[in-house]
Amino acid sequence: MSSDLDRYLHDNDRRIHDELFELLRIPSVSARSEHAGDVRRAADWMRDSLARIGFDASINETPGHPIVLGEWRKAPGAPTVLVYGHYDVQPAEPLELWESPPFEPTVRDGRIYARGSVDDKGQLFLHVKALEAHLAVRGTLPVNVLVLAEGEEEVGSENLAQFIASNAKRLAADAVVISDSSMFAPGQPSILSSLRGLAYFQIDVVGPTVDLHSGSYGGAVVNPATALARIIASFHDVNGHVAIPGFYDAVRDWGDDARAGIRQLPFDERGFQHETGAPALGGEAGYSTLERIWTRPTCEINGLLSGYTGEGAKTVLPSKAMAKVSCRLVPDQTPEAIGRLMEAHIQRVAPTGVTVTIQHLHGGHPWRAELAGPVFDAARRALEGAFGRAPVIVGEGGSIPVVGDFQRILGTPVLLMGFGLPGENAHAPNEWMSDENFVVGTRAVASFWDEMARG
Ligand code: BES
Ligand code: MN
Ligand code: MN
Repeated sequence: MSSDLDRYLHDNDRRIHDELFELLRIPSVSARSEHAGDVRRAADWMRDSLARIGFDASINETPGHPIVLGEWRKAPGAPTVLVYGHYDVQPAEPLELWESPPFEPTVRDGRIYARGSVDDKGQLFLHVKALEAHLAVRGTLPVNVLVLAEGEEEVGSENLAQFIASNAKRLAADAVVISDSSMFAPGQPSILSSLRGLAYFQIDVVGPTVDLHSGSYGGAVVNPATALARIIASFHDVNGHVAIPGFYDAVRDWGDDARAGIRQLPFDERGFQHETGAPALGGEAGYSTLERIWTRPTCEINGLLSGYTGEGAKTVLPSKAMAKVSCRLVPDQTPEAIGRLMEAHIQRVAPTGVTVTIQHLHGGHPWRAELAGPVFDAARRALEGAFGRAPVIVGEGGSIPVVGDFQRILGTPVLLMGFGLPGENAHAPNEWMSDENFVVGTRAVASFWDEMARG
């Protein structure tokens, strides 16, 4: 282990935390236009923090939020690694459920509580500090490094694929490294083998032009809420399979090795259920919980809106109904093909007497890792060195839209080593990052660069 880097990180621990807290105080909520100025402030902050450690750092405008690019290319002949992360965060609402304010980082029980602490500011920032340790202690890096930080991940990375495609030469790299995911369990470093993709829809059903008296009109006018309920009930059969025709056509078999690997993981199903608070787990028949989350596509209602939802009873036939629906995708499903299947299905099942429209909100491609080559070997050694335990290979049910794009557009292999933990409340009130994981993760990433140099 490289004690010089560890000592530097230890000696600077206080300042490093102060800096992280500064970043966490910026409410860079990409989804809300009133925070556009804060998103830009976080971008500027990232650029300055990269410039301060010796990177050429720039702000790159997009039609949406800016992309920060840091470049250090002073190792001619050595490989080039691109580090990706996002500095935008999810909205913090509902605010009343936070035990400390979302944009006032607070340490309790070894956890850093703040919106964005683990997703993804803490995990992005620890890469910058690992790079700083090398440059401060040794004045150099063993490989060429690019840092790409975007401000639109939480709203679907709409402008990033375009930026990558038109800057393909500048972004050419031998590997992409990302920390924007979680470890399987505390103390158990983990490398991701897959991410699901995403196809997100909004379905609007409109009937009468205004709400109607449900006595005077009910039974003679098609109820948009009932129509929508019938549409979304048609998405699954009784065994939990998605019943949209053609939905599974492109699904590639996961393979026996991967399935055996999943079975070998010490998954605490009871603990997982407990964490959700749900009275029982449930899903597609014939698959285990981890298989359902990691290897199977889904079609889930994310939001429903219609009619009277206030106190007491109001006898009313609503004029419209709306649902937000997301399909999580697995290789080789594509958001485009699933969008076409969804549209055809809805046309088929939509009752007459209402108008049904479907909007495609965003999408991302699924991804499966190669898990071979010098970058993975370096990550394995670095993680084992820092955590004292060999990493496990895990799947992931969430999505990082750009990962598939890196593979498709640049042809670059992607390594995902995350330092989050189960129960970290990403996207929810009281998001936290384990401070130990922040510290050990920084050390692991610092030693990752050394392991890369060893080849
Ligand atoms: N960091 C997450 C992806 C993730 C989720 C990794 C869970 C590991 C565990 C990312 O920031 C995220 O939230 N992605 C969104 C994508 C969407 C907004 C396009 C997701 O998965 O919902
Ligand atoms: Mn994230
Ligand atoms: Mn997220």
